[in-house]
Amino acid sequence: MIQFQNVTKTYAGGKVKAVDNLDLTIEEGKVFGFIGPNGAGKTTTIKLLTGILSPDNGRVLLNGIDMARDPIAAKRSFGYVPDAFDMYERLTGMDYLNFMADIYGVDAASRKRHIDKYLALFELEDAAGQQIRGYSRGMKQKLAITGALIHEPSIWVLDEPMVGLDPQSVFMLKEEMRRHADSGRTVFFSTHVLDVAERLCDEIGIIKRGRLIARGTLDELRHGGDSSLEEVFLELVEKKGE
Ligand SMILES: Nc1ncnc2c1ncn2[C@@H]1O[C@H](COP(=O)(O)OP(=O)(O)OP(=O)(O)O)[C@@H](O)[C@H]1O
Ligand SMILES: [Mg+2]
Repeated sequence: MIQFQNVTKTYAGGKVKAVDNLDLTIEEGKVFGFIGPNGAGKTTTIKLLTGILSPDNGRVLLNGIDMARDPIAAKRSFGYVPDAFDMYERLTGMDYLNFMADIYGVDAASRKRHIDKYLALFELEDAAGQQIRGYSRGMKQKLAITGALIHEPSIWVLDEPMVGLDPQSVFMLKEEMRRHADSGRTVFFSTHVLDVAERLCDEIGIIKRGRLIARGTLDELRHGGDSSLEEVFLELVEKKGE
């Protein structure tokens, strides 16, 4: 479970309110999709959720653990794929995965099971022995996802995880996200791909200028009508939050 309790974050000495009094609970068993225009505050929200940034006000709790009070325990509970990342280019893919497994204290049998599964899923077996500097963007993304989930965390936090992935890998990742939530755990991800959000998410949150302007199931967002998420999004983002 993820809880934001009246969370506010400003930048530039208070001039930019990137997240404005966010109050949001995401229950277990849900895929939650976070959408909003560029600069709306999605990545900032995710950085607050992962403890990379501290809120000016409010609390963030992961499975009931307060990030500010017990950051190590809170950080153990999630796996995080950032929107942009630098990798250790001289490591091989396999070295990187073992490094991540070491950080999280994953035993040999569990790491092997996870690595075998994801390398096969993403067709990365041949690349795993090669240095990361020779990887394409999509290959790095797949490796980052595999590494982030290596400790089998209950909460997945993914910032635009489909960017750069080929259609087959997008499909596999969506299946894994669905399966993870269906097993009673939580997925929080941001995206600009509204038809993915529409089909995959149990709940959707729309943020604009740091404010959560809508939240609910697709049916709730469209108030019983039959509009697409894209139509709902464009209408809400144009009208609300001024
Ligand atoms: N390090 C920073 N310093 C100052 N302002 C920042 C910083 N990071 C983000 N901002 C500002 O905070 C606001 C929210 O940015 P954020 O990156 O959270 O948006 P986003 O919803 O993830 O956008 P995108 O869809 O483009 O990824 C924007 O106004 C942005 O300019
Ligand atoms: Mg972002």
